[in-house]
Amino acid sequence: MSSPALDIESLEAAYEPGLPIVRGANLRVHPGEIVAILGPNGAGKSTLVKAVAGLVPISAGRVLLHGADITCVPAHRLVFEGLAFVPQTENVFANLTIAENLELAAAILKADKRERLDPVYAMFSDLQRQRALLAGRLSGGQRQMLAVARALIARPRVLMLDEPSAGLSPKLVGQVLDQLKRVRDTGVTVVLVEQNVKAALAVADRAAVLVEGREHLVGTAAELRADARIAELYLGRHVQAQAVA
Ligand SMILES: Nc1ncnc2c1ncn2[C@@H]1O[C@H](COP(=O)(O)OP(=O)(O)OP(=O)(O)O)[C@@H](O)[C@H]1O
Ligand SMILES: [Mg+2]
Repeated sequence: MSSPALDIESLEAAYEPGLPIVRGANLRVHPGEIVAILGPNGAGKSTLVKAVAGLVPISAGRVLLHGADITCVPAHRLVFEGLAFVPQTENVFANLTIAENLELAAAILKADKRERLDPVYAMFSDLQRQRALLAGRLSGGQRQMLAVARALIARPRVLMLDEPSAGLSPKLVGQVLDQLKRVRDTGVTVVLVEQNVKAALAVADRAAVLVEGREHLVGTAAELRADARIAELYLGRHVQAQAVA
């Protein structure tokens, strides 16, 4: 059997030594899956993905990318290992055009501009049409598309995103998440943190609910949609024991 695309094992991550925020988290993501990381505010979702992306110190556990240990790989090297990360904010250069944002991503990789940009423009025709526009002039949804497009310039095997739909209208949430499905259909494994539980479970194959720094529930999207504990966690509903199974 092929190795998981991403394997997070007993991960601990802390901003300050001795005060772990991610506390023994486990998550296995298979090639070609879309996996959503859900959970209440402050659960450590962003900290988990930032730790995987090399942006928060890992104090225990390990992270494997297609079988290779990337636990100690610094953030700027991960893109060469096949992992791209789209942070929640400041994920594009607002004072550069769409084209410049994408060209810069290619330049950082020392990659051929045309070769890298053409497939990305083919996938995001809106971005191609508006390529001379400053990123700062884009709508929230378009800006997220640009952030995803920038990440794809690196041709990652795994694309990890922190709340790509934050602040978007319900319609745009659906559009951004549908784009991620198209990205997955090109062979990229997608891991995303999401607050929009319903929309996330509509596109994800599987999801994990993180509570207090570790996974609390993991299952297929269908299993989690049917799981009364989701309603309890998010809506504070008290559910009957037999509904929880
Ligand atoms: N830079 C930081 N330095 C110290 N503590 C931090 C830092 N960033 C986050 N934390 C703490 O880590 C905990 C988890 O935060 P995190 O942002 O990972 O949660 P989250 O699940 O992404 O929440 P949200 O749904 O609000 O985005 C919080 O208690 C927060 O105060
Ligand atoms: Mg967060």
